[in-house]
Amino acid sequence: MVSFPVATDKERVDLSKMREQLDEIYEQSLRTLEEAGSTDELETWHRETLGRKGSVQLQTRHIGQLVPEERPHFGRRINEVKQALEDAYQERATALRAQELEAQMAAEALDVTLPGRRAWRGRLHPASQTLRDIYRIWGDMGFQVYRSREVETDEYNFELLNIPQHHPARDMWDTFHTMTPGVILRTHTSPGQIHAMRQYCPEPIRVILPGMCYRYEQITARSEIQFHQVEGLAVGKNITMADLKGTLNAFARRMFGEDRATRFRANYFPFTEPSAEMDVECVLCEGAGCQVCKYTGWLEILGSGMVHPTVLRNGGYDPEVYSGFAFGMGPERIAMLKYGIDDIRYFWSNDLRFLEQF
Ligand code: PHE
Repeated sequence: MVSFPVATDKERVDLSKMREQLDEIYEQSLRTLEEAGSTDELETWHRETLGRKGSVQLQTRHIGQLVPEERPHFGRRINEVKQALEDAYQERATALRAQELEAQMAAEALDVTLPGRRAWRGRLHPASQTLRDIYRIWGDMGFQVYRSREVETDEYNFELLNIPQHHPARDMWDTFHTMTPGVILRTHTSPGQIHAMRQYCPEPIRVILPGMCYRYEQITARSEIQFHQVEGLAVGKNITMADLKGTLNAFARRMFGEDRATRFRANYFPFTEPSAEMDVECVLCEGAGCQVCKYTGWLEILGSGMVHPTVLRNGGYDPEVYSGFAFGMGPERIAMLKYGIDDIRYFWSNDLRFLEQF
C-alpha cells in the first residue's frame, strides 16, 4: 500500500492567512521599492524580492501546506503579485534612470558660451601661394593656364627650342635622363611653348605655363634639383618688344609694388631673339644696396625675349606673319626675394618652422 505524505491538520495553513502574508509582502515590497534611491538599490531590491530566493518566490514553498483545491488559487495569486511588482519595478527603474541621467547632465553641464577649441588648419606652401599670386596677375591680363608635361623628350626640351645636339648652349641646362634614350625630365617650362603653339596654331595665344622643372645640379643655398617655373607666351600679329616690356612691367608692379622700378638687360637664350633679363629694384633695401641684392640695388626676376623665328616655325606659325614674346620666371626665387629667404633648400625640406611662417 502506497501512502502519500499528507499534511497534518496542525501543519495545514489557512488560505486566508497565507494571502494575508502575501499581501503584506506585496505592500512592504512596494514601499521599499519607492525608497530605492539609485539603480543599484533597485537591482538589490529586484534580487531580494523577485529573484529565485526572493521573498515572493519563497511563498511558493508554502503552497504544499494548502489543501489541494486551494493550491491553484494561491499560485495564481503569487503570479499576480509577481507581475504587479515587476511592473512597478519597471516603472520605477525608468523614472530612476531618467532622474540619474538628468543629474549627470546637470553635473557635467557644458558651458556652450565658452569659445571652442580652434581646429588646426593647414595652409598653402609658400611656393603655391606665390604661384597663385602669379596666376591671378596674369589671369587679369588675359593669360590662361596651360598645363604641360614634366617628362619630356630631348626634341621638345631642346631641339625644337633651337638648341641642337652638341650646341654649347646645352651647357646652360644640366639634365636628368631616363633609361629610355631621348626621354628626360624637363629642365624648364619652355617646351610647353611648342605644345601650346602646335595645339592652337594658327590662333593667337596668350598663356602661362606653370609647373615643376628638374636640373641635375649640386644642391646649394642657391640651386635645387627641382623647382617651379612659370612660362609665359603671347603669339599673334604685330606683337612687339614694347608689348613685352609693358606687360612685364605691369606684372612687376602688381607683384612687387606700384612704384617698384624695373630694368631690362640684354641677354642670350637660344629660343628668343632679342633676349632680355628683367630686374626689379631690390624689395628689401629699395635700391640702396644690401646683402640680398649683393649691393647692386637690383634683383633679377625673369628671363624673356621675342620668340625666335625658328621656334615660331617649329610651333607652326609663319614668322613673316606672326610674332610673339615669351618669358620664364621662378616662383621660389620670387618668394625668396619678396620675403628675404636666403636658402632655396627650405622649400622642399618640409621643416614646419619654415612653412608655418607663411
Ligand atoms: N627657359 C628659360 C630658363 O629656364 C627662361 C626663359 C623662358 C627665357 C622664356 C626666355 C623666354 O632659363
